[in-house]
Amino acid sequence: MAITEEEIVKALRQIKNPLKTGAPDQNIVSAGLLESIAINGDIVSICLQIDPADAERVEPVRAACEKIVEALAGVSKVRAIMTAKKAPSPAKGNGKAPPPPTPKKIKGVKYFIAVASGKGGVGKSTTSVNLAYALKQKGLKVAIADCDVYGPSAAMLLGLNAKPEFTDDDRIKPVMKDGLKAISMSFLVPPETAAVWRGPMVIGAIQQFLTGVAWDMDGDVDVLIADLPPGTGDVQLTMCQTAIVDGAVIVSTPQDLALIDARKAVDMFTKTRIPILGVVENMSQFVCPKCHQVSNLFGHGGAEQFAHQYGMDFLGAVPLHMDIRACADAGTPIVEAKPDSPEAQSYHHIADGVMRHLAVEL
Ligand SMILES: Nc1ncnc2c1ncn2[C@@H]1O[C@H](COP(=O)(O)OP(=O)(O)OP(=O)(O)O)[C@@H](O)[C@H]1O
Ligand SMILES: [Mg+2]
Repeated sequence: MAITEEEIVKALRQIKNPLKTGAPDQNIVSAGLLESIAINGDIVSICLQIDPADAERVEPVRAACEKIVEALAGVSKVRAIMTAKKAPSPAKGNGKAPPPPTPKKIKGVKYFIAVASGKGGVGKSTTSVNLAYALKQKGLKVAIADCDVYGPSAAMLLGLNAKPEFTDDDRIKPVMKDGLKAISMSFLVPPETAAVWRGPMVIGAIQQFLTGVAWDMDGDVDVLIADLPPGTGDVQLTMCQTAIVDGAVIVSTPQDLALIDARKAVDMFTKTRIPILGVVENMSQFVCPKCHQVSNLFGHGGAEQFAHQYGMDFLGAVPLHMDIRACADAGTPIVEAKPDSPEAQSYHHIADGVMRHLAVEL
């Protein structure tokens, strides 16, 4: 059988990074040394990209690449070469940052979207899981990735507490819940461990998380939703640099304070050329569960005005309603628990907008 690029990459992952840069225990693939692979029948060419100053240290790795790939079935000849990195690394003193990695499409995922906000606690996780269920109820295959390293909560909102299992090719298997695929940072690292992590560790974890999950298990997914932590930090930037994000949903409450922070999130996605699908106003109005009277606790309409001011679509408003929190806390989001409620319908309205923007076809 013909050799594939995937099989070669898998074999190359066994070779340790000989350089001291990057996270410990990196292999030459995760450390970014592998530049390209070309397959011509049973002849394989491998290109390693290095700083010329490291040539001597990388030479044994070059030889190891040839040996390990030559041993694969379907390969008769391997040539591994080293090429110079276009820009020297800042460690060598020119002060320039290395070029960011090229974002890649996530395997097994048709559309990858992120739910983000500048401010914490505005309802990103609640929106993510309800949006996931709403899209599922419309007939799509949906997955959710809880990317909040420091405070993973989407898994809790889905009532999941799983230990990850692995596929034969060492990828993490998503956990199934009500037909949704889900994975959470909390399955991989306990939050108390992650709490003391610094930037590079978070970056490494998110890269692995985005590239190492078997979303294609038992069939591809139409939409993968990333529930992000608040702000515009390492998680967000690593996500933008690692994976092609097809769009972002910005969640905000109507107050000015939340909207100032939402603006920062919008700026980040604009700079990283990620399309903004639109804005959701959460906790828009308070509906009294007893008398059903509507009051504007945090104001009303601020996020809609904000969306229009910056030329973004307004995807819809979700009221502040006790049932939304109660259902979330019980592990079944309101869209699934009370599908006919007006609150569930507000999430369906948002899901319609998201599908329209992505041009998803049923
Ligand atoms: N529309 C709503 N009505 C009632 N409660 C809500 C609503 N939206 C969110 N909540 C509640 O507000 C709290 C915060 O929501 P959530 O965890 O979704 O915010 P977040 O933006 O993801 O927070 P973080 O920034 O910490 O990740 C939760 O207890 C949630 O149940
Ligand atoms: Mg959250």
